[in-house]
Amino acid sequence: MVEVGHDVMRAVQLIRDGELVAFGTETVYGLGADATNARAVAKVFEAKSRPSFDPLISHVADTNTAQRVCREWSASAAVLADAFWPGPLTLVVPKALEVVDLATSGLPTTGVRVPRPELTREFLVAANCPVAAPSANLFGMVSPTTAAHVVEQLGHAIAYVLDTGPCEVGLESTVVRLTGEDAVVLRPGGVTFEELADVLPTIRTGADADRGEMQAPDSPGQLPNHYSPGVPIRRNVTIIAAGEATLPIGLLAFGELNDEWHGPVEQLSATGDLLEAASNLFASLRSLAARGVERIDVMPIPDVGIGVAINDRLKRAAQS
Ligand code: TXA
Ligand code: MG
Repeated sequence: MVEVGHDVMRAVQLIRDGELVAFGTETVYGLGADATNARAVAKVFEAKSRPSFDPLISHVADTNTAQRVCREWSASAAVLADAFWPGPLTLVVPKALEVVDLATSGLPTTGVRVPRPELTREFLVAANCPVAAPSANLFGMVSPTTAAHVVEQLGHAIAYVLDTGPCEVGLESTVVRLTGEDAVVLRPGGVTFEELADVLPTIRTGADADRGEMQAPDSPGQLPNHYSPGVPIRRNVTIIAAGEATLPIGLLAFGELNDEWHGPVEQLSATGDLLEAASNLFASLRSLAARGVERIDVMPIPDVGIGVAINDRLKRAAQS
């Protein structure tokens, strides 16, 4: 049976023994294994039914340790790490040998990031190894933002969940690839493009590379269909068409809701606060699906700031 708790030393012991340990971060819960142990990393892919071409992020306690798992540490890397770590930013950099090839799907690069919760950083310090972790959900499904979400989907496959409470940001990290000083955003996430450009004006969006998804081998995990709550999703819904209201539709609301809606609803943010909406997104999708609706209609979400990442996830959820 999986244990859930705050016992850092128990989590460390299990990771050292090559077991899987889920842990909280500020973005979503991760499903962790010792990144230097190929057998342990293989268990991650197996537990999630994740295709092995999709590389994992190495989680480390601080910038110094991050430099140890990389072969190169550019000035751009230093600027971004300094500005956003600990926090929801992943840097893709040339990897050191220590990180096993399976963790990076054979790529010569590794994603690396320093998560924010104190307990998780204590765990990473004591583990004294990079911890490879994808989001702790079954492949293609909605990411977990509480320990209970992890237990629900993966409880049978893991030894321990290090519980840091509900995730503060609620959306995965922004992934930035660094090639020398050149920086490109591969996945929108918890740090907005504007925030990145403020400290690194030369950074580019991956929007061009992202067109057509599967042709973007740069970020193999960015599959078009992902984040599925298990029911169809319709985006940018402003009016419920006549007759449809009798279907069991769930509404994912953002901002003011008109009085005519009487069906199941989850409010992302009544005041239209995008940060609040991001933190509620995955839990709301899960709970609407659990109420037995046949479709989830989502009100329009402004495509600015962290709204870009929210819309990215909803777009993929709608395609799955
Ligand atoms: O916030 C997050 O990033 C969470 C928490 C647990 O840290 N993790 C997460 O992992 O979202 P995952 O595996 O669900 O997504 C990782 C993304 C994928 O799109 C993957 O393709 C990309 O990062 N990625 C990882 N390593 C990469 C590499 N070496 N080159 C290009 N993309 C990489
Ligand atoms: Mg994921």
